[in-house]
Amino acid sequence: MSDAPSTAPWPPRTAADFPRIGALPAYVFAQVNADKRERIEAGVDVIDLGMGNPDLGTPEHIVQEMVEHAADPRHHRYSASRGIYGLREAMAEHYRTRYGVELDSETEVVVTIGAKEGISHLMLAILQTGDSVIVPSPAYPIHSYSVVFSQGRVRSIPMVGDDEGYVQDDALLAAVEDACQNSWPRPRALLLSFPNNPTTLQAHPGFFERAVEVCRRNQLLLIHDFAYADFGFDEDPPSVLAVPGAKEIAVEFFSMSKSYCMAGWRVGFCVGNPAMVGALTKIKSYLDYGIFQPIQIAAAHALRAGQECVAETRETYRGRARALTEALHAAGWELPPVHATMFVWAPIPARFREMGSMEFARTLLAATGVVVSPGVGFGREGEGYVRFALIEPEARLREAAVRIGRFLRDAAE
Ligand SMILES: Cc1ncc(COP(=O)(O)O)c(C=O)c1O
Repeated sequence: MSDAPSTAPWPPRTAADFPRIGALPAYVFAQVNADKRERIEAGVDVIDLGMGNPDLGTPEHIVQEMVEHAADPRHHRYSASRGIYGLREAMAEHYRTRYGVELDSETEVVVTIGAKEGISHLMLAILQTGDSVIVPSPAYPIHSYSVVFSQGRVRSIPMVGDDEGYVQDDALLAAVEDACQNSWPRPRALLLSFPNNPTTLQAHPGFFERAVEVCRRNQLLLIHDFAYADFGFDEDPPSVLAVPGAKEIAVEFFSMSKSYCMAGWRVGFCVGNPAMVGALTKIKSYLDYGIFQPIQIAAAHALRAGQECVAETRETYRGRARALTEALHAAGWELPPVHATMFVWAPIPARFREMGSMEFARTLLAATGVVVSPGVGFGREGEGYVRFALIEPEARLREAAVRIGRFLRDAAE
């Protein structure tokens, strides 16, 4: 896409005739989704482990809080685009108690319609045409698409893990330095996300100190997507904002979707650097009127009430991760242990690797009725992998592994 006036055909024939849409890379998951629909229509008992869409309902006390306020006409008006005071305060309290981070709920917290919306509009707010953003690959797709939508450029760097499930900090930060020194115009921002979707990699304690220092030295804004803040199985994942002075250059996105099983409610936050929070607040004030108020009230309640439900959800995903990896192991598919998130990031068995992750996912679905996400959908570095989302009970995950085991045995004969 360029700044030149549109030369799109008149009248437009397809969505792709609009240059911004035409410039988007193909949506890799569309093919698997189409295959899935076809299988379901053919009467197959499909086990869908494709999208990271939580199956555990929202905890009862949160639903109740919403229901109590839903009938009150005072809450049926437009709400505040940047989020009601009580919810911004609840988020500030959450950061104080959880991470020892002080946030001014007026200038350093904005409520978003989920982290996905927040990241997309933050990019639109802070990027100029042609600005580049460093995004480690593989990545959650919106990390790249949000940059493309904003007419920025993605500067992709490879992300590699070690045997313990941590990102290799030295390699990642060296790649960031290299991208800064060897590209022009110099990148404007670095977008990180740990614990990571799809790779499940975690950041070492101390990683963000180093990342903030690298960003400062290279005049990069740092954006951290913390959607899996509560899903470290062995230790609490670190917040970038706990690094002294991080607020001068960094924001963090927190999401209610996974921690409180509120994916459909659409509540997230952008917190930290007041300039970036202010830019996002401003652009949102033009674009939306805020989330339905009873939902915001319930989200504030979720953050302030006992946090046992969060621990229970984490334990459920830990149990599922173990159940699936053990069952796949028994089925002949060796996988490293999972230490975080709600996914299993699985290297494709050697004898299928040649066909590529897209073809492998389609073959697996056709043969077993199990839906997985092809790794290439998360960027070129995701090739050679598929991702299982842990959104079915353990018994169903074991059933998926049994079917896959049968497929692997048949293929070996
Ligand atoms: C890394 C990451 N960020 C953001 C999101 C979306 O969060 P939300 O539901 O708050 O938009 C997801 C959802 O899967 C995710 O994996």
